[in-house]
Amino acid sequence: MIELRALSTADLPALLALQHATSTPPWSAATLEGQLLDPAREHGKNVVVATRDGEIVGVAGWVDAEGEQFGAPVFAGDREAADALVTTLVAHARERGAARIRISCTTPEQAKRESLESAGFRVVLDFITLAIAAEPRNPRIELARVAIDSVDPDVVRKLHDETFAGVDNAPPISLEQARHVQHRAWPEASGVWLDGEEPAAFVVAMRDGDCVEIDEIGVRSSWRRRGLARALVDRVIDIAATARIGEVRALIASTNTASLALHEAAGLRERYRRAVYQLELR
Ligand SMILES: CC(C)(COP(=O)(O)OP(=O)(O)OC[C@H]1O[C@@H](n2cnc3c(N)ncnc32)[C@H](O)[C@@H]1OP(=O)(O)O)[C@@H](O)C(=O)NCCC(=O)NCCS
Repeated sequence: MIELRALSTADLPALLALQHATSTPPWSAATLEGQLLDPAREHGKNVVVATRDGEIVGVAGWVDAEGEQFGAPVFAGDREAADALVTTLVAHARERGAARIRISCTTPEQAKRESLESAGFRVVLDFITLAIAAEPRNPRIELARVAIDSVDPDVVRKLHDETFAGVDNAPPISLEQARHVQHRAWPEASGVWLDGEEPAAFVVAMRDGDCVEIDEIGVRSSWRRRGLARALVDRVIDIAATARIGEVRALIASTNTASLALHEAAGLRERYRRAVYQLELR
């Protein structure tokens, strides 16, 4: 019998082992902690842990976005745990009147997939992780760079919300989420680029062991199709090589053709894929 309870930081090692046993790619402890304890999940309040006979068998976090619900991350050791977590997330989404709920699923996550399909979820898009080995590059960027953590969080929030408007699975962020992102970003590879006084683009890159992930890259519309994003991706690849980091990755929605084309043009290639399942609630 599954019991659901609140998250405790003492659960993190067992949850990391669960992530490694059930999903791909394996996360670092920092990634797991960053996901479960971030402001979007109310610093861990929007997380439920599933246990059986006191043993951890599942975990689910959720993000309450405007009109929609994201269940993430969700890891389940078996079908019973997956059912309990999916049922809880759907009930929460219905309770707050969300129009739809999305939960993603990697290829090895059989129990979760069965549970989602039997609850009526259907795949609406994929998330693709692209990767490339870091190497020296020589990008030319004419705009001035400002360190990501020295910029007013409201500038980051506005840049994010404006550039990501209409992009799948990228709802607007709060000021607190902007601050969190600025704090977690790897400063060397991240930044805001200014055209005079005006912010034109931003990059948030996260360092995680031997890997750098381009978490967010956004260029304002007046600056698009001028090679700026390509130069910024090249800059991350170059900085990773200088820091002797092995690999650069980016996680992109399969519906985001501009971003896929951009990263493929920069030489990144598909490594992992996970399906985003959706249930319409109205
Ligand atoms: C994706 C994004 C960052 C591209 O910025 P950009 O500065 O316009 O990109 P670049 O000018 O450097 O384009 C480099 C290459 O990427 C590809 N590309 C960029 N935008 C494209 C588009 N809208 N459609 C198709 N290919 C596109 C092209 O191959 C382009 O080379 P080309 O112009 O010689 O054909 C920008 O459209 C954006 O901010 N989108 C919203 C936020 C987002 O989706 N970010 C990525 C999330 S993972």
